[in-house]
Amino acid sequence: MKKLAAGNWKMNGTKASLAEVAALLSAHGQPACEMLLCPPATLIAAMAEAAQGTALKVGAQDCHPKPQGAHTGDISAAILKDAGASHVILGHSERRTDHGETDDLVRAKAEAVVDAGLVAIVCIGETEAERDAGKTLAVIGTQLDGSIPMGATAANLVVAYEPVWAIGTGRTPTLSEIAEVHSFLRGRLRGLIGDEAETVRILYGGSVKPSNAVEIFAVPHVDGALVGGASLKAVDFGAIVEALSAA
Ligand code: PGA
Repeated sequence: MKKLAAGNWKMNGTKASLAEVAALLSAHGQPACEMLLCPPATLIAAMAEAAQGTALKVGAQDCHPKPQGAHTGDISAAILKDAGASHVILGHSERRTDHGETDDLVRAKAEAVVDAGLVAIVCIGETEAERDAGKTLAVIGTQLDGSIPMGATAANLVVAYEPVWAIGTGRTPTLSEIAEVHSFLRGRLRGLIGDEAETVRILYGGSVKPSNAVEIFAVPHVDGALVGGASLKAVDFGAIVEALSAA
């Protein structure tokens, strides 16, 4: 299975930021891993055009569960696909917190993404209080069970483990904590989708940067990364792409 380096630009980026994409592609146009950037929806079409003929794929950060209709301000998976997206991040902790997204809603969105022929990147992760209370595996197990789409396969689902307390904080779990969670998730996926689980990519996310990428990517069942802050700069994201290509 090819590993996946996925960048989440969150609410950052304007047309001027496409210069970072050009820099990334000129230095890392054909990496050994898969490479994906998820900019704000307004930049998807322009980024997809810039990425044509390269290994870079372009994704979105959210979508509506319905294919179309009277939902002012929302964007459907089909519209994202039309703009050039191949992946959609769903259930990011910032959306679960800022917009009260539940597992049920995340699953509905993930099913819409799969129905549109795109790949769903389903995010799960525990809060610091949940980890301190020893509930990490229980929490992420429940999130996984409730959030992945019906008919999930290795081709239409990516799982991202992102401890909430590690996002944007510079703090990361220990390597053995990451190993414990990723191997737990592989087993849980096996129970949900059988053999297909062996090749579903399980990404780690939360303060991944060039300085910790090599050691995190060596952890068993870490099949890539979901990178926030460090995906905004071509040099940082490029270094992470290279670390993953070598892993
Ligand atoms: P971070 O964000 O890399 O800035 O910690 C990760 C994410 O939210 O996907």
